[in-house]
Amino acid sequence: MKINRIYAVYWSATGNTRKIVERISDKLATLTDLPIETIDFTLPPKREQKYEFSEGDLVIVGTPTYAGKTPNKILPFLKSGLIGGGAAAIAVVTFGNRSFDNSLAELCDVLESNSFHTIAGGAFACRHAFTDKMADGRPDTGDLLDCDLFSEKILAKIQNMDTFPEPVKVDGDASAPYYVPKGTDGQPAKFLKAVVQTDKEICVECGTCIELCPMGSINPLDVSKNIGPCIKCHACVRGCPTGAKYFSDPAFLSHVAMLEMNFTSRKENKLFY
Ligand SMILES: Cc1cc2nc3c(=O)[nH]c(=O)nc-3n(C[C@H](O)[C@H](O)[C@H](O)COP(=O)(O)O)c2cc1C
Repeated sequence: MKINRIYAVYWSATGNTRKIVERISDKLATLTDLPIETIDFTLPPKREQKYEFSEGDLVIVGTPTYAGKTPNKILPFLKSGLIGGGAAAIAVVTFGNRSFDNSLAELCDVLESNSFHTIAGGAFACRHAFTDKMADGRPDTGDLLDCDLFSEKILAKIQNMDTFPEPVKVDGDASAPYYVPKGTDGQPAKFLKAVVQTDKEICVECGTCIELCPMGSINPLDVSKNIGPCIKCHACVRGCPTGAKYFSDPAFLSHVAMLEMNFTSRKENKLFY
């Protein structure tokens, strides 16, 4: 089967998914000598339009895993903003060393429903947005080599294809419920309403957080206040140049402590063709 264009398409609040999708698409572009077009829909303005693809396109689509699925606030865009038109798709999720549970299955399902042909899927373990104690330093060299191997196998599959095969089978169940976060006491940790805090002693009001927030939720007139939902993505926490953003919600901190106690041993990436 002939591929004419490669697209790197991702939502990535703290940069892991971007790194993985870029590595896979870079390798594919090198192997095929085709250019890459990038669609980074992390920020709200990029989600105001629809993106249409067509046969002959190879589209690598990536999102992180949030509560075992794709981020729920991004799901409406995934469902309506990416129109496959018969293009081949590679579904990619990253996860923070607990589990990708059902995120990859959900992403594959959404892409198939949007007229993409999913020919491969990959789940990559990356540093958890919440803490450096889980998969710190990942994606590392080994992970990037896994991306290269993944790209090589995808290309071999495409070269041997006359028509599109059955959708790729991946682990997980697209219709499964969200993972319920637990605290250190083993009980559900309810932190849906937790909002990022600002240390006003440290904040220099540079406005970086306003630019980084994927929900456009930080008040441009007072960065310590939110004007929209906080999805706890940690874009502002990780991106603040003075370290002024943090979470103080006890249920959220208990969940992070529980993760750090139970999910630090290295998780492997899982690739499906
Ligand atoms: C709100 C939220 C929920 C998360 N839920 C999970 C999860 O269920 N399982 C897991 O292993 N990692 C989870 N993570 C970690 C992210 O999947 C991981 O850090 C991912 O690589 C972040 O991608 P990004 O850097 O592209 O934003 C979660 C992170 C956030 C912010």
